[in-house]
Amino acid sequence: MLSDIIDVLADPVDGSSLSGVDDFSRLVSSSGHSYDIARQGYVTLAGGRGLRHSGDSMEMVLARETFLSGGHFAPFVEAVTAGVHQALEDNALPLEARPVIAEIGAGTGYYLSHTLDDVDGSRGVGLDVSVYAAKHLARCHPRAGSVVADAWERLPLADESVDAITVVFAPRNPAEFARVLVPGGQAVILTADRGHLSELRDPLGIIDVEDGKVERLLEQFSGYLQQVGEAEVVEFPMNLDKKSIAAQIGMSPSARHIGAELLAQRVAELPESMIVTARARVTRLAKAPQNQEVPQN
Ligand SMILES: C[S@@+](CC[C@H](N)C(=O)[O-])C[C@H]1O[C@@H](n2cnc3c(N)ncnc32)[C@H](O)[C@@H]1O
Repeated sequence: MLSDIIDVLADPVDGSSLSGVDDFSRLVSSSGHSYDIARQGYVTLAGGRGLRHSGDSMEMVLARETFLSGGHFAPFVEAVTAGVHQALEDNALPLEARPVIAEIGAGTGYYLSHTLDDVDGSRGVGLDVSVYAAKHLARCHPRAGSVVADAWERLPLADESVDAITVVFAPRNPAEFARVLVPGGQAVILTADRGHLSELRDPLGIIDVEDGKVERLLEQFSGYLQQVGEAEVVEFPMNLDKKSIAAQIGMSPSARHIGAELLAQRVAELPESMIVTARARVTRLAKAPQNQEVPQN
């Protein structure tokens, strides 16, 4: 719930602190701005220019829910949660700490809720620019709060308030991640790797993941956060039926490029079930501990 993370949230306009008023039906900042909490439990924290992206559509969010509920990406979720455990251990948090985990572009909250279940006493912020995703995020876990915000803008999170950031196939904002992470805090980032869904590429006409994704990620973060250890490859086979394949493509940007009708036609021509490779990398990046600058490359 938003009340669990109120100390972490900040006014998107000026970064001032927020508190819940009128039975927690609104958040009000110390500078006087007011943000209504939607009936479904999420809050939109957008600055003066409002939201300039809409994120995933309702259809994409539903497809994501259908696909993820099949458990096909379980090894990815385990890898992200393990990365968060490692990140918290590296920063030697005291046992009584209630670590804050913020997931950026959190979708339905599948990853965030698993991590919150696994990390005792942790609190979560699920941030996504899609209102449809935010509705799911609001009910994904009792210790998660759901926020609609744009990852490319100033994040509505207080300076040095987040112990770990997770990003799964979603946008990243290095300068903002460095601002909101506590000293020694880490970002755990899962990026698709070349070969991901390779068996579906030709039959469905979807493009492959480009080479050098992790290298570009590191370049993007240079001067903000520094890589910890090596990126870990997570690869496994999935046995997918046609419904799961349609949902997998429906939750991805390919859904927009191909179009629903053509996609349905192509899926209909596939065998009843297929073994499909899932492949991604987990990269951890840390903010320098207190009083230490991140070395410039
Ligand atoms: C590929 S989905 C991944 C969702 C989730 N991490 C998962 O793997 O289930 C990307 C998510 O990022 C969100 N998104 C896209 N652009 C965004 C932005 N500028 N700010 C915040 N979220 C954004 C989309 O709405 C979508 O939920």
